[in-house]
Amino acid sequence: MSFDLILFGGTGDLVWRKLMPALFQAFRHGSLPAGGRIIGVARDELDDVQYRALIKSRFDHVELAKRPTEEEFSRFEALLCYVRMDLSRADDYPALATKLKERQADTVVMYLATAPGLFTGFCEQIAAAGLNGPEMRVVLEKPLGHDLQSNRAINESVRRAFSENQIFRIDHYLGKPSVQNLFALRFGNALFEPLWRRENIANIQITIAEELGIEKRGAFYDSTGALRDMVQNHALQLLCAVGMEPPINSHADAIRDEKLKVLRSLKAWTPETLRRHVVRGQYGAGAVNGTATQAYRRETGVSETSTTETFVALRTEIANWRWAGVPFYIRTGKRLADRAAFIEVNFRPAPHAIFKTPVGAANRLVINLQPKDGLELHLLAQGQQERRVSQTLSPVQLDLDFDKRFGSERVGAYERLLLDVIDGRLNLFVRSDEQEEAWRWVEPIMESWKNDAEGPRAYAAGTWGPAASSAMIARDGFCWTEEC
Ligand code: BG6
Repeated sequence: MSFDLILFGGTGDLVWRKLMPALFQAFRHGSLPAGGRIIGVARDELDDVQYRALIKSRFDHVELAKRPTEEEFSRFEALLCYVRMDLSRADDYPALATKLKERQADTVVMYLATAPGLFTGFCEQIAAAGLNGPEMRVVLEKPLGHDLQSNRAINESVRRAFSENQIFRIDHYLGKPSVQNLFALRFGNALFEPLWRRENIANIQITIAEELGIEKRGAFYDSTGALRDMVQNHALQLLCAVGMEPPINSHADAIRDEKLKVLRSLKAWTPETLRRHVVRGQYGAGAVNGTATQAYRRETGVSETSTTETFVALRTEIANWRWAGVPFYIRTGKRLADRAAFIEVNFRPAPHAIFKTPVGAANRLVINLQPKDGLELHLLAQGQQERRVSQTLSPVQLDLDFDKRFGSERVGAYERLLLDVIDGRLNLFVRSDEQEEAWRWVEPIMESWKNDAEGPRAYAAGTWGPAASSAMIARDGFCWTEEC
């Protein structure tokens, strides 16, 4: 099968940080179908040779084990070519059409790694140039819009040019191996299903913590914030994966139907819950890993009086028979104490105690997304160090480390998703109705912040966020992992 993969925004951050390294890994693993072209598109005046040299230089930033050797790059670069084009100029589209006509590939993937403001005009021009035939697939990066209305407008314009099965809305968290393993754990094994409900589960916590700040994305981030950047998409997709009903089969729409039901079942916000169950924060100066870091408001591209949140913690519920009353907590932030993403399923304690157990100890299943990838099952056991059988139980942990079990050279998130687009598999992509529902649910939070003069709560970089986040969960009698 021949393919053309066009990377719009071909000299941009996403391409050199994520997409090219992922494509190179796919190439190295031999999983890119033979006979493909990777076409970078951007406004810079470059030719093929200069584009290849630029991409090569960018690999210096990639970790050593994932960097191509000279020999590997010389084979990989044969796939790369470049088209200079300004997406906002109708006159520039014929050059792209000419490039594609050079060889009529079986599949053409158009990856929009550009500012979302360009999507609508792009779709109109692509349709006008007749570049929206059935062999075309379009990949849209998040954030798709900044609220429900703008999201709808983008989705409508994309659907005027392409049918839904040609549209691949990326949420790279769905490509992470541990998220696929969560589906495998829940729907390929019968063990946990009977326990996976309100009768047995006390609460579920989803944490996506980053040590990094906003890097060089100050201007983008300051008009976006953590709610739009992480909660509306990544965190809610994780919540869907952990909370959804078993789908009737593994087809894309069966899975997406179930995720949509979760989003529709999220408890509606009230003024009271908005006040008590949502915490926003912004990092001040501090130290991450022993290195002093500056306050968010001092970052390049950020307003000195910015009220953009770099941290969100919230509590919600899925209002259905399986989950009614079970709190789901989400927290995410930049410049936190650690880089860690995990989902923690906290089971209820044994209903009747015949042993002595440490305070607060109960069974816990942790699905680790990163930095390590695997499962931890926390149980209580008798240590048996004493001569007499002890009545006191101690916490023990069963580890399933997927990196050790399956090798750390497994397919990464972007690699998986890019290969899926080329193969036309939609399972790990987000449907427009899911996206709209997620926007509908976060909108009241955005609205409430507009009217809240207090602004985000400050937290020192290198900590776990503002104290109000701990206070929120403590009011329910629970705690975040690192505090328990
Ligand atoms: C992106 C956000 O979608 O996800 C970034 O825009 C964030 O702000 C990134 O840093 C986190 O992804 P990962 O895979 O590094 O956890």
